[in-house]
Amino acid sequence: MQSKTFVKKKYFSRFFLDKIILKIITFVNHKGGVGKTTTVMSVAGILVKKFKKKVLVIDLDPQANLTKGSGVIPVNLEITLVDILRDDEASLVENAIVKRENSYDILPSSLDLALADQFLYERVAKEVVLKEIIENIKTRYDFILIDSPPSLGVLTINGLSASTHVLLPVETSFFALEGFESILDRIKTIKKKINPNLELLGIVATKFDGRKNIHKESLEEIKKSIPEKVFKSVISTNVRLEEAPNFGKSIIEYSTEAFAKDYIELTKEILSRLKK
Ligand SMILES: Nc1ncnc2c1ncn2[C@@H]1O[C@H](COP(=O)(O)OP(=O)(O)O)[C@@H](O)[C@H]1O
Ligand SMILES: [Mg+2]
Repeated sequence: MQSKTFVKKKYFSRFFLDKIILKIITFVNHKGGVGKTTTVMSVAGILVKKFKKKVLVIDLDPQANLTKGSGVIPVNLEITLVDILRDDEASLVENAIVKRENSYDILPSSLDLALADQFLYERVAKEVVLKEIIENIKTRYDFILIDSPPSLGVLTINGLSASTHVLLPVETSFFALEGFESILDRIKTIKKKINPNLELLGIVATKFDGRKNIHKESLEEIKKSIPEKVFKSVISTNVRLEEAPNFGKSIIEYSTEAFAKDYIELTKEILSRLKK
């Protein structure tokens, strides 16, 4: 039989371990259509299914693509992130989280999140509202992945302020790095003024098509941006990635591992960088 002290020790080390292990990663790019939502869904699905991690995803985009793509219909929800933000009721977060069997949990978004600017406008410390919300649930997960809207507004700032890491998906196309400096500047400012723990985890090239010269040139540009931060894994175009959200599933749930291989490699790289 285990002694009381042993059980106690085990409990406490697990408790402290959880606190230390939890990583909160925001996926950011001020452009739309670059693969933020697809990357959040894919990495979340793989962390759960392949690496047996406890994962929560938070949808900060009023378009609610992550929510809908994960099979959750915003109009059917009693409480969403909007209610929590608007009423300053961080403790309600429990009721808003949708638990999905054998998959990641989700804190869903809805269209009225577009009004966040208005209802957070007069709030003191409006940049850290999400951070307070997360405090209520952080011991239950290994990873919290945050999907942002295509802007650097108050919602994205809340995501960055609540995170330990930021990951930038960049589409391999014309003008891939346009506006890149302003995202990096914004991250630096948030690190300096609000969240000293924030680290740039990496940059991942997405929607790559090796048959197109412009994609190859663009990939080279991305690799030169901050070379030590660019992930070796490159996400190629893959029609299954477009199909999966229509079935409310991430790529690893929808398809075979072969079609998820780019994102599996990326997830492995993410895990290895986080260990360092
Ligand atoms: N690697 C990929 N291959 C093919 N289609 C992709 C890929 N990544 C994303 N897409 C598609 O591109 C569109 C935009 O991607 P999305 O993840 O929603 O971008 P964002 O969240 O940055 O707006 C979606 O229709 C998505 O299915
Ligand atoms: Mg999106």
